[in-house]
Amino acid sequence: MHTSLVIKGKGVSREIKSRVIQSPLAGVTDRIFRKFIRRWAPHSLLFAEMINATSLNLGYGIEKINQINNEEGPIGIQLFDNRPNSVADAAKESESSGAYIIDINMGCPVKKIANKGGGSALLRDPCLAVELVKKISRAVNIPVSVKTRIGWSEKDKNIKEFLLRLQDAGANMFTIHGRTREQGFNGKADWSFIGELKVELDVPVIANGDIYNVNDAIECLNITKADGIMIGRGVLGAPWIIGEIDFALKGLENFKKPTTEEKLQLLIEHIDELIFEKGEHGLLMARKYIAWTCNDFDGAQNLRKNLVRAKNPQEAKDEILLMIHKLKNKS
Ligand SMILES: Cc1cc2nc3c(=O)[nH]c(=O)nc-3n(C[C@H](O)[C@H](O)[C@H](O)COP(=O)(O)O)c2cc1C
Repeated sequence: MHTSLVIKGKGVSREIKSRVIQSPLAGVTDRIFRKFIRRWAPHSLLFAEMINATSLNLGYGIEKINQINNEEGPIGIQLFDNRPNSVADAAKESESSGAYIIDINMGCPVKKIANKGGGSALLRDPCLAVELVKKISRAVNIPVSVKTRIGWSEKDKNIKEFLLRLQDAGANMFTIHGRTREQGFNGKADWSFIGELKVELDVPVIANGDIYNVNDAIECLNITKADGIMIGRGVLGAPWIIGEIDFALKGLENFKKPTTEEKLQLLIEHIDELIFEKGEHGLLMARKYIAWTCNDFDGAQNLRKNLVRAKNPQEAKDEILLMIHKLKNKS
């Protein structure tokens, strides 16, 4: 099994020494979370949270691309918008800030985005999607990829044609989430259909949807014969999962998964980073990470409740330290 991924760009090609990619996850994959993922996955391509191109041109969200300059390893920037010139400008800006590749979001079903003609709405406007890809490919030298779904709805799955047109327009890679727009997150990702699309395309195809562990990854790669896989929800509460899957695909054994105590230590580190960056508000932002971490050990539910009630970061950290102490004494 090959262990790297080559993406040819117009001027610059990329060779990534890992076939496991971290999904862009709005509200989750910020600089701090990526830092944790990177700890276990030094070579994998990670994505920043998606950025609206028009807002970026107006100066909003600029910190999201400036941050990647100081980070280790390959980081891609995902843009969404329906205005070709805005996206081309944002792509240029991302390239000069050190983006490893540019991804265009053509799969997001969120109404706020799709109603403005971005994300999955582009599935219904192939001419605009083609124009977007053409403009961006002309604007940058690094590879340009498209992340999309297998179609709008079960009845409207003309995605093959759509992808071939985007490939002709200059798309250098596709990530395909094996669900239709209509499905949202319901049902199961259709890996077989991703496999049918893979054989029709010349550029690399990344399979996405419902990969949570090493077995899922191997099964998905066997079915799709994809060039790589992308993990989204699997990283929630498990920032090591990209590294763990990469490790296994490389034929390495005995990956050192963090123990519960280590996961809780990581949570303290996460709270500290959030407080450092956002002030006391960081504790509120930590809630989702708390919920994803405190769910699979004795006393997890209680700890979660106590952390949500904590009046300040120190109180929260003391609760976690107490739990670490209890767990250590038990073992
Ligand atoms: C909280 C959350 C945020 C997401 N944000 C984005 C995003 O910004 N861009 C995008 O292309 N997809 C986004 N997605 C979709 C995921 O990238 C991925 O395609 C989808 O979750 C299916 O993969 P999974 O089964 O591995 O989670 C998001 C999904 C979740 C759950």
